[in-house]
Amino acid sequence: MKYNIALVPGDGIGPEIVGATVEVLKITAGKFGHDFAFNTYLAGGSALDEFGVPLPQETVDGCLASDSVLLGAVGGPKWDAVPNHMRPEKALLGLRKALGLYTNLRPAAIQPALAEACVLRPDIAAKGFDLMIVRELTGGIYFGDRGRNEAGDAAYDTEAYSVMEIERVARRAFETARRRKGHLTSVDKANVLETSRLWRETVHRLGETEYPDVRLDDMYVDNAAMQIIRDPSFFDVLVTSNMFGDILSDEASQVTGSIGLLASASLGDSSRGMYEPIHGSAPDIAGKDLANPIATVLSAAMMLRYSFDLAEEADYIEKAVADVLSEGWRTADIKAPGQEDWLRGSEMRDKILEKLV
Ligand code: IPM
Ligand code: MG
Repeated sequence: MKYNIALVPGDGIGPEIVGATVEVLKITAGKFGHDFAFNTYLAGGSALDEFGVPLPQETVDGCLASDSVLLGAVGGPKWDAVPNHMRPEKALLGLRKALGLYTNLRPAAIQPALAEACVLRPDIAAKGFDLMIVRELTGGIYFGDRGRNEAGDAAYDTEAYSVMEIERVARRAFETARRRKGHLTSVDKANVLETSRLWRETVHRLGETEYPDVRLDDMYVDNAAMQIIRDPSFFDVLVTSNMFGDILSDEASQVTGSIGLLASASLGDSSRGMYEPIHGSAPDIAGKDLANPIATVLSAAMMLRYSFDLAEEADYIEKAVADVLSEGWRTADIKAPGQEDWLRGSEMRDKILEKLV
């Protein structure tokens, strides 16, 4: 089959890790008899430098015309001083909105080969965990009305959710839970926020009417932030609003101790998704061949699984990564204390490619 993949490498280490991942995809395509065509588009700071806007229309059109999008990362200190509406991050928010990607899947799990990297107390880490945060991605306070008063000494941002917006992301979350351990935790702040009360009501109505087989519970967001540290093994799938999901997914990924390994998928109603590593553009290590390509490689595997329904090919890539890790190969971000024989980014790429041929 032929698939058109839009590449949006972005800034910082983005081009390096996307470049490595394209090699992985090419070998996989050859192995399984597929034809992956790649088109590259600018977004973020690099687009700002070249076109004067963080998200050129050409990039939006190219992504809309593709079968799926692979993104590196955007942003960096170079663009810290640009006006708000020109910030590189706007590219990310704009792409999510333009592509209708209202669901963000962010897994955080301890990889067996990397249990020692987990930052939790050993007795908690020993229980292991494998959770999936389902974050609403195109609504809530990140897209709500905002502004300042005339004097500029007061500002506001608004959180707004409709039943439709809650239902569509909740359905994805219930379905994700069904394919996993069948446990869904809905995270909100219903003791304070009206949007959260609507969120909770809506999720429960769906649970009772459409997903009675999924075990559903609720948790306040502040408590969820604690439980992710105290006992992450409690969780299977979490579903929550845009801002809460942004914060909890960073927390959960850091708890694994290996953020350089974590992938994510942004999905909407069509099979076209956007796939990107959870980590950022890491400008401090860009161009030094230090960036770990694994999170992007695993994001591409998610693309094959969720957008193209190529489960066997996705398994094949994930196994190659797991094998390299279980042989003890590490990049700088995940090396054991004192480990001298760690790999540069291109060397890690080559180790993975060797497993794929
Ligand atoms: C993320 C990022 C973005 C977000 C920023 C860069 C706008 O933090 O993907 O989590 O908050 O959505
Ligand atoms: Mg974030």
